[in-house]
Amino acid sequence: MNILTASQFDQAKLTRIFATADKIRSSPGRWHGEVSDKLLGSVFFEPSTRTRLSFEAAMVRLGGQVISVENANLNSSKAKGESLEDTVQTLSQYVDCIVIRHPEEGAIQQAACASDVPVINGGDWANEHPTQALLDLYTIVHEKYWPERLKIMFTGDLLCSRTAQPFIKILLRYDVDIYVTSQIPTICSNKIKTISEGDIGECLRDIDVLYMTRHQWERSKEREVSEFVLTPALVETMKKDAIILHPLPRTKELPKSIDNYPQAVYLKKQVKNGMWVRMALLYELLTEKSLG
Ligand code: CP
Repeated sequence: MNILTASQFDQAKLTRIFATADKIRSSPGRWHGEVSDKLLGSVFFEPSTRTRLSFEAAMVRLGGQVISVENANLNSSKAKGESLEDTVQTLSQYVDCIVIRHPEEGAIQQAACASDVPVINGGDWANEHPTQALLDLYTIVHEKYWPERLKIMFTGDLLCSRTAQPFIKILLRYDVDIYVTSQIPTICSNKIKTISEGDIGECLRDIDVLYMTRHQWERSKEREVSEFVLTPALVETMKKDAIILHPLPRTKELPKSIDNYPQAVYLKKQVKNGMWVRMALLYELLTEKSLG
C-alpha cells in the first residue's frame, strides 16, 4: 500500500492508526526490533527538517535502518537527467519502503507506479502532504478533547499550502466548523466559511483550534497573501483550552513571543506527534499488523 493522499484515510483507518500511535508513544522502547530487518529509503528533492528527520527517527526507533538522499536534485542522478520513475524503481530494489518529497504536483503519485515497495508522499508542491494531515489531526485528538462540534480557523497562505488543503479534506469527515481567511478553490463544503482579515480577532475568541501557515513564497511570489500576525494580546483573547497549530517552518506570522503560552503546541507536541504517527504508519506498512 502507498500513502499518497490524505483522502485515502477514512475515519476507521484514522482511528486505527491513532490507536497504534498511542500504543507506541506509551511505551516507545517496546517496539524496537519490530522492523529490524527493514530498510527505509528517503529521497527529498526539496528542503525539510521535520518530515525527513521524523521519518528517519521513526524508522530507527522501530529498530529499522535508513538510507537517505537529501538535496536529491544535486545528490542523486537527477543531476544527470535521470527520471523520478527510474530513481524510484532503482531504490525500490534496495529498500522496503520509500518516502519522497518533490516540487512537482502529482510527481510522487506517478513515480509510485514504478516502485516495487510502498511509497509515502512526503509532500508534492502545494498538492498533498498526507502524513502531516494525519499528525495534525492526531494532535487535536490527543492534545485536546474533541468538543461536540470542533471550530477551527485556518490563516495564512492557504492557496499554496500543501498542509492546509489535505488536512481540511480529512477534517470534513468530522463534525466541524472550518473558518478560512482565504478561499481554497479545490474544496467546496457548507462546513467551510470564508472570513475577512478584519473578522479574525472575533473568530479567535470562539475557536478551539487555530491552524496557521506561512507565506509559501517558494511556490509563487506574484500574489497578495495574508499579513496576519498572531500577537500575545490576541492569544490572551483565545479560550484557555484552545490550541495553536502550525506545520512549521514559521516566519513572521507566528512570533517567538507566543511560544510559552499554554495554547502553543506547535513546537513540541505537534512536532513530536509527527514522529509517533510516522512510527505507527511505518509499523503498519512494514509489518502488515495494527496495534489499534
Ligand atoms: N511540516 C513540514 O513539512 O516541515 P518540513 O518542511 O520541515 O518537513
